[in-house]
Amino acid sequence: MDEDLCFDLEAMARRIDGQTKIIFITNPNNPTGTFLPAAAIRRFMQKVPKDKIIVLDNAYQEYIDNPDDYVTGLDEIQAGKNVIVLRTFSKVYGLAGLRVGYAMAKPEIISLLNRVKPPFNVTRIGQRAALASLENDNYKNRSALLNRTNKAKLLGQLQNLGLRVIPSQTNFLLFFPGVNVAELNLRLLKEGVIIRPTAGFGIPDGMRVTVGLEEDNEFFIKKLKKVLPGK
Ligand SMILES: Cc1ncc(COP(=O)(O)O)c(C=O)c1O
Repeated sequence: MDEDLCFDLEAMARRIDGQTKIIFITNPNNPTGTFLPAAAIRRFMQKVPKDKIIVLDNAYQEYIDNPDDYVTGLDEIQAGKNVIVLRTFSKVYGLAGLRVGYAMAKPEIISLLNRVKPPFNVTRIGQRAALASLENDNYKNRSALLNRTNKAKLLGQLQNLGLRVIPSQTNFLLFFPGVNVAELNLRLLKEGVIIRPTAGFGIPDGMRVTVGLEEDNEFFIKKLKKVLPGK
């Protein structure tokens, strides 16, 4: 990661060696929310030797600001490259409880994945719901728009508290409360707020809050002000 908490693709490219088999890029990324523009990904892909596999985890694809500046990976798959694209119905489609997602890649790679994939790993209800979601752009667009509006407001509220917040193209915000995160988290839990300290992701002083409905966000900000010393 660079200092803006974006993937440092130059540094990643330099680390590739004979031992490297597979490279994961999550775009936009969790838990930072940061985004890699198309030119940066394309430049990186040119540097990666052809025999390596690049996985693009596009879980948050539907939330990005500018689809024209996004590498979905589909063109690269069509061109026969060693690229795997991951998508999920857990985010903008709101189906996390049904556990549905999928991978796209060229047939040789899918055949390898099929050898290790457990059979019947997606339920029939999950499949039906996923297909119905794909036919309902209206829901997806409303969900993404609501997220965008509420995220902008939440970002402003956190910044008004004087906190560093990372600009996000996902449905969550990574912020730095400037106090001991484990203690703050306990206090928030006691107030009925569950957000995610990011120590487990290697960001010990950060917290990730998911953008909710307006009343959820207001509740969170109210409780955060209550438990944050001096706010
Ligand atoms: C980057 C990323 N990829 C994939 C997922 C997958 O979600 P699921 O296992 O619910 O499909 C998540 C969910 O948190 C995620 O953050």
